[in-house]
Amino acid sequence: RTPERSPRTPEGATLAPEQLRSARWFSGDHLRAFSHRSRVRQLGYGPEEHAGRPVIAILNTWSDINPCHMHLRERAEQVKRGVWQAGGFPLEFPVATLSETFQKPTPMLYRNLLAMETEELLRSYPVDGAVLMGGCDKTTPALLMGAASAGLPAVFVPAGPMLRGHWRGTTLGSGTDLWKYWDDKRAGLIGECELAELECGLARSPGHCMTMGTASTMTAAAEALGVTLPGASSIPAVDSGHHRMAADSGRRAVELVWRDTKVTDILTREAFLDAVTTVLALGGSTNAVIHLVAMAGRCGVELSLDDFDAVARRTPVLANVRPGGAHLMEDFHRAGGLPALLAQLGGLLHTDRPTVSGATLGEQIAGAASHDEDVIRPLADPLSPEGGLAVLHGNLAPDGAVIKPIAADPALLGHTGPAVVFDGYEHMQAVVDDPALGITADTVLVLRGAGPVGGPGMPEYGMLPIPAHLLERGVRDMVRVSDARMSGTSYGTCVLHVAPESHVGGPLSLVRDGDRITLDVAARRLTLRVDDTELARRRAAWKPPSPHFDRDYGALYAEHITQADTGCDFAFLSRPGRDPEPNPR
Ligand code: FES
Ligand code: MG
Repeated sequence: RTPERSPRTPEGATLAPEQLRSARWFSGDHLRAFSHRSRVRQLGYGPEEHAGRPVIAILNTWSDINPCHMHLRERAEQVKRGVWQAGGFPLEFPVATLSETFQKPTPMLYRNLLAMETEELLRSYPVDGAVLMGGCDKTTPALLMGAASAGLPAVFVPAGPMLRGHWRGTTLGSGTDLWKYWDDKRAGLIGECELAELECGLARSPGHCMTMGTASTMTAAAEALGVTLPGASSIPAVDSGHHRMAADSGRRAVELVWRDTKVTDILTREAFLDAVTTVLALGGSTNAVIHLVAMAGRCGVELSLDDFDAVARRTPVLANVRPGGAHLMEDFHRAGGLPALLAQLGGLLHTDRPTVSGATLGEQIAGAASHDEDVIRPLADPLSPEGGLAVLHGNLAPDGAVIKPIAADPALLGHTGPAVVFDGYEHMQAVVDDPALGITADTVLVLRGAGPVGGPGMPEYGMLPIPAHLLERGVRDMVRVSDARMSGTSYGTCVLHVAPESHVGGPLSLVRDGDRITLDVAARRLTLRVDDTELARRRAAWKPPSPHFDRDYGALYAEHITQADTGCDFAFLSRPGRDPEPNPR
């Protein structure tokens, strides 16, 4: 009944239909295969539509609650179209959606849950390859971590940025302008009418944030890694080019199965280094540090904070996109998108490596040009010669911390000031505006209890608010230090991801009001100016805070989460080991 070779098996296929993973479920003369085939008939497909075709799972993070993915329900139909055209058999799997705006305490708590769901669905079902549909912040790393661990061929379909926002003749960037105008409101510069209009203008179409936030950063990283089709990551969600890219991705997934190209064949150390270079040239989100380290861990690739710092020192920022620059993703797309940016970087990349398109990265970007050199700068005229990221060490961050110098006031990159410490977000919110704290523009604001375990989930609290009385006096940046993350759409002199975090006894837990802290970005140092004997005394008196969870996923999370410098994966997911294929009989 199963044809020897599918009529549409492409030239160059290295697998025959009977070697497909799904054939273990569907072919042969035994009870289970017969049962599985009968259930495909129940799905409404005849043997001629199914037998011998690669099964492509479309993992879709669409949900009514996720405005960034609201178009993916329909877009999956275009992926299916492509899979059918290439002779595959598409099956859509709804998977957990992680909506950056709505999910509390933070979707970061659930990145590893979606990664686990992705891996286990791919492993336990008769699947030969996957199309992964995501884009809103954590969905991209989660889907790719799971697909890498499952070890199947996969193509990533980025959700695409939303259209640019508008307000009274200016353009608005989601996230970035939210922070900006909220500060204007706190400073008394705008009122209720303006806010009501801004509410409607900040995000006005399907798609992920259209600034260079975590979503645009991570989908661009996916493209640079080679797991999307070329140019895919910047196509606006509502552009008809997005439909065509989706169909094309479906076709490619089928080809990858026949050629037995697994996602881990593409995700090499060279690919990760190029993704780091890309993120830095984009002036991308600091969250990419955590996600790329975690993704590399799933691929058995060594990638450390030191790699980021080394790459940052040689990588100019070329993308003039908010929050670091002036434009938005729609402009970036019009200027040529990521291939145009990668073409500028040329010699900094490993161009001779495979991608899901079948071409090498070099072939993919050959001839790509910037059509607007204000948006995608040439190497000779960067937005900044470096400064996309700096990794700091010192007695306050023994395992490292990060800062995004281009998002900071240059005058604060070398600064010593007295600490004012907040124990958790609620404490900070309650007291930060109180003039009695004596906070001045020189103060170093410290937030602790906001790390992977303490947050929990390492929420994006790292852009601590400037006290209102300072805002009114025109202060718009201060040195801030925390074990939290920061939204990719945020900005400021914010030292983030301090590791180890305070909740597990990192030195951040020992800081007291009035201690002097020195930030020295040029020397890559973060120093608590308190002597070792005093610190030892404080450490002896330190009591660990009580855990957040007694039961449920939160307890599992708290037990297994790793610190920021190693990517906040679960230790049991990132370690190597045996992974038995299920026996479909
Ligand atoms: Fe989804 Fe910003 S809220 S990408
Ligand atoms: Mg975000």
